[in-house]
Amino acid sequence: MKFSKRLQKIDNMITSNYDHIWDCCCDHGLLGVNLLKRNAAKNIHFVDIVEKLIRDLDKQLKQEFSDNVSKTRWKTYCLDAAEIPIQTRESNLIIISGVGGDLLIDLVQSIRSAHKNQKLDFLLCPVYHNYKVRQALTTMGFGLINESLVKENKQFYEIIHISTQSKIPISLVGSLMWDFSRQSHKEYLKQTIAHYQRKLKNSTTNANKIVLDYKNLQLSAES
Ligand SMILES: C[S@@+](CC[C@H](N)C(=O)[O-])C[C@H]1O[C@@H](n2cnc3c(N)ncnc32)[C@H](O)[C@@H]1O
Repeated sequence: MKFSKRLQKIDNMITSNYDHIWDCCCDHGLLGVNLLKRNAAKNIHFVDIVEKLIRDLDKQLKQEFSDNVSKTRWKTYCLDAAEIPIQTRESNLIIISGVGGDLLIDLVQSIRSAHKNQKLDFLLCPVYHNYKVRQALTTMGFGLINESLVKENKQFYEIIHISTQSKIPISLVGSLMWDFSRQSHKEYLKQTIAHYQRKLKNSTTNANKIVLDYKNLQLSAES
């Protein structure tokens, strides 16, 4: 199975030495396996809610990374990612990628409220609803570490690295990820504005404010 450009980008953004990295919603575990190969943390945890995926992954990991082969410890869990058993007083990075924005918000909220006084970092890559995700993260009190934009199979993905310890505000429309010297970034901004302009016709959303925020970003990019 291919280690996609999006997963590669997420991998590249992990530069700190964490005690624990949680590859939540790991599917076949491609990202976590890569992290395991490069000993990116002392412990790599693979979490998915589908039993068969975890059973197969566990078998594969036992073959490839037995204790005497890898210096990084690993563990698999067939579990709702909302319930991950985080170790207190150690550093934790929780990755949630490749799921819709609403589920991703629910998972971050559940993990955050189960570990209220714990320093937590998250690396998030939602499928759609980035503005809503950023709003929720701001409300939960997170700050920004880094962010990045990646295009894969004609679709753009925002990757957001956040922490309970960071005081850098998370912009609702994105900040560090933009490079307007790149045509693809201009294209993504244009697409996003068009998407919310279509939603303006549906009066139940707050698309007006969202369109305005993205248009202001476009104006500042042009000046
Ligand atoms: C499309 S895959 C994402 C794989 C990988 N993280 C990526 O970014 O490419 C989504 C995975 O999320 C898992 N999943 C969905 N809800 C979950 C939950 N509440 N807890 C754990 N895993 C979940 C699914 O079983 C599926 O394997």
